[in-house]
Amino acid sequence: MKKIGFIGLGNMGSAILNGILSKQTFPPEQIAVSRKHPELAEKYAENGVRIYTGNRELAAEADLIILAVKPNILESVLSEIRDVLDKQLILSIAAGWTPTRLSAALPAGVSYISAMPNVPAAVGSGCTIINEDGRYTDAQMIQAEQIFGAIGTTHRVSGRIFDVCGTLTGCGPAFVFEFMEALCDAAVLEGVPKPLAQSLAAEMIGGAARMVESSGKHPCVLKDAVCSPGGTTIEGVRALHEHGFHVGVMDAIIRAYEKGKKL
Ligand SMILES: NC(=O)c1ccc[n+]([C@@H]2O[C@H](COP(=O)([O-])OP(=O)(O)OC[C@H]3O[C@@H](n4cnc5c(N)ncnc54)[C@H](OP(=O)(O)O)[C@@H]3O)[C@@H](O)[C@H]2O)c1
Repeated sequence: MKKIGFIGLGNMGSAILNGILSKQTFPPEQIAVSRKHPELAEKYAENGVRIYTGNRELAAEADLIILAVKPNILESVLSEIRDVLDKQLILSIAAGWTPTRLSAALPAGVSYISAMPNVPAAVGSGCTIINEDGRYTDAQMIQAEQIFGAIGTTHRVSGRIFDVCGTLTGCGPAFVFEFMEALCDAAVLEGVPKPLAQSLAAEMIGGAARMVESSGKHPCVLKDAVCSPGGTTIEGVRALHEHGFHVGVMDAIIRAYEKGKKL
C-alpha cells in the first residue's frame, strides 16, 4: 500500500488533499500530513489522515511526498529530510524549482517530478502542468497524474515550455478576474446590481470557455460567429482593440513569464 505524505498544508496543499479525499483517489489511511501546527490538521485526522509534527518521520515512512511549502522554505525542508530519502517519489509544486535545482538538492536515485497547479484547484477546476523533465518511472508519472487529476485536468509538457505554460495557467486566473471585474463595473455603471453582474460574468466566461473546449474551434472563429455585420459586438471588439486589449493580454503573460525567470 503506497503512503502519500504532504509537507505543507496551506492553500495548495490543502486543495490537493481535499481533492484526493473527495474524489477518493486514495483512502485517508494511505495519507499523512506534516505541519508545524498539528491542531490545524485536526479535521483531516478526523477523516483518518495521519498527522505528523515532524517532516523527517513523515518523509521516512512515505512512498510519495508532496512538497507544498513556499519556494523559499523548500531548501531547508529538503536539507531536513534529505538523509531519510531513498526510494520515494518527490512531487514538488514550488514555483521556480526547476528539475535541475531539485535534482541537485536530492540524493541520487530519488525520483522527482515538478508540477504547477493553479488556484481553481481549490474548487476542483484546476489545470496542472506537469514537467516531463525529471527522474521517474512511467508508473510514478501516472500516480502524479492521478493526484493532480483529483483537482482538475493535467497536462504533461516538456521542460522547454513548462514555465510559460505554468505562467498562462498560474497567472491567467488573476487576469480573468481582472477582466470579470471590468465586466461587472460596466454593468453596475449601467444599473445592474453587483451580485447579478458577477453571476452573469462568471456564467458567460464559463460558457465561452466550454464552447472553445467542446467545439475545438479557434477562438477567432467563434468570435466572428458572434459579430453580426454592422452589429453591437463588432463595435465592442473595436473598442477592445482601440484600448490594446489583445496586445495587453499577450504582454501580461510575457512579462509575468520574464519576471518568473528573474526570481
Ligand atoms: N497558491 C497557488 O496558487 C499556487 C499555485 C501553484 C503552485 N504553488 C506553490 O505551492 C506552494 C505552496 O503555496 P501555498 O500558496 O499553498 O502556500 P501557503 O498557503 O503559505 O502554505 C504553505 C504551507 O507550508 C507550511 N510550512 C511552512 N514551513 C514548513 C515547514 N518547515 N515544514 C512543513 N510545513 C511548513 C505552512 O504551515 P503553517 O500554516 O502551519 O505555517 C503552510 O501549511 C508554493 O511552493 C507555491 O509556489 C502555489
